[in-house]
Amino acid sequence: MNYCVIYFLPICLLFLSFALCLPDSCQESTEDPICSKASMHVSRTLHQATMRAVRVHAFGGPDKLKLDSDVPIPEPNEKQVLVRVHAAGVNPVETYLRQGTYHIKPPLPWIPGNDCAGVVEKVGPGVSKYKTGDRVFTYKSVTGSYAEYTVTNEKDVFTLPAPLSFQQGAAMGIPYFTAYHALILRAKAKAGHKVLVHGASGSVGIASVQLAKAYGMTVYGTAGSPEGLELVRNAGAKMSFNHRQPGYTDKIMEATDGSGVDVIIEMLANVNLQKDLELLARGGTVAVVGNRGNIEINPRLMMLKESSIVGVLIPPDAEAIKLQINAALQPGMEQGWIQPVIGKEYSMAEAGQAHEDVVSTKPTLGRLVIVP
Ligand SMILES: NC(=O)c1ccc[n+]([C@@H]2O[C@H](COP(=O)([O-])OP(=O)(O)OC[C@H]3O[C@@H](n4cnc5c(N)ncnc54)[C@H](OP(=O)(O)O)[C@@H]3O)[C@@H](O)[C@H]2O)c1
Repeated sequence: MNYCVIYFLPICLLFLSFALCLPDSCQESTEDPICSKASMHVSRTLHQATMRAVRVHAFGGPDKLKLDSDVPIPEPNEKQVLVRVHAAGVNPVETYLRQGTYHIKPPLPWIPGNDCAGVVEKVGPGVSKYKTGDRVFTYKSVTGSYAEYTVTNEKDVFTLPAPLSFQQGAAMGIPYFTAYHALILRAKAKAGHKVLVHGASGSVGIASVQLAKAYGMTVYGTAGSPEGLELVRNAGAKMSFNHRQPGYTDKIMEATDGSGVDVIIEMLANVNLQKDLELLARGGTVAVVGNRGNIEINPRLMMLKESSIVGVLIPPDAEAIKLQINAALQPGMEQGWIQPVIGKEYSMAEAGQAHEDVVSTKPTLGRLVIVP
């Protein structure tokens, strides 16, 4: 017994310590045949357990968006879906959240992003609508979409029809859902109405133009550059006007023979709301989608024309509204009358640049997307 302890115990300890050290020492050396099996195991395990993602560790400017490569891949719970992200949309609101000055402050470290498109990787046990391999787009994300993988509640996942690319799918969630909500559900626009999309060259603007055209409305749109003006006409506007040029609202009035427009989808209310009230026809409606400050308006105009101003924000728990909107949009994606326009693609390392661009005064030409 004593001989066993004296001779065999040190040998066992030597083998044990060698075995424990093996994975670490082998990570660097894939060519060593002794190490190759262990290193394959290690890299596969790492690949399965971690992902690259853009994270904010402290609130502030675009430089606070850091590309991290060791972020745990999130696990979907009962009614959640894990999506392999192929493209994530960049929305102005993500820049407000990143600054830390918005009314909501996400806990840090935080992965920005809500809408994306990709392929279902895994579903929770209570998920019935989707399975691994399905092409989908999301309206919202639980864990953030500027990442290789994102977890989303099943109710915020929708089928991405084959005609649309993943990049286009990343423009469906917030832009098209918001455009439909603004135009049809809030402003109650109908076929035959004259609709002005004030700020039509961006994500929500192009979506609003395409939907209004498809529903039989006469569409006017504004943009701030020659390319933007052309883009807006190509999306279906009868005429486009440059909102950076003085007197452009007079031209819109002339285009409507002085009667004004029935509906305005407004992307920058703090600049345009008073002009909008002047541009409205009797009984018309301004739907405020975007706003970045205060403005003084003359409510008398509302009185005289019996016009309305409505706010637009899909309530977070409005499952029925999202189902209704998705049902209306699916045929457009299938039949081709919904064609999201991609302005620019960024890698995850370029997320800071994407944030600078989405709120810059440079001309907008469609949706900005991050491709992991
Ligand atoms: N309420 C909601 O639920 C909701 C949802 C999504 C977005 N939003 C908000 O809606 C706004 C638009 O979002 P987005 O994603 O479409 O942004 P985007 O893609 O960056 O587009 C911004 C648009 O605003 C236009 N614009 C610039 N100056 C303007 C002016 N003086 N008058 C009218 N338009 C002007 C831009 O035109 P040029 O660049 O050609 O000048 C561009 O068409 C943002 O403020 C965003 O935060 C709100």
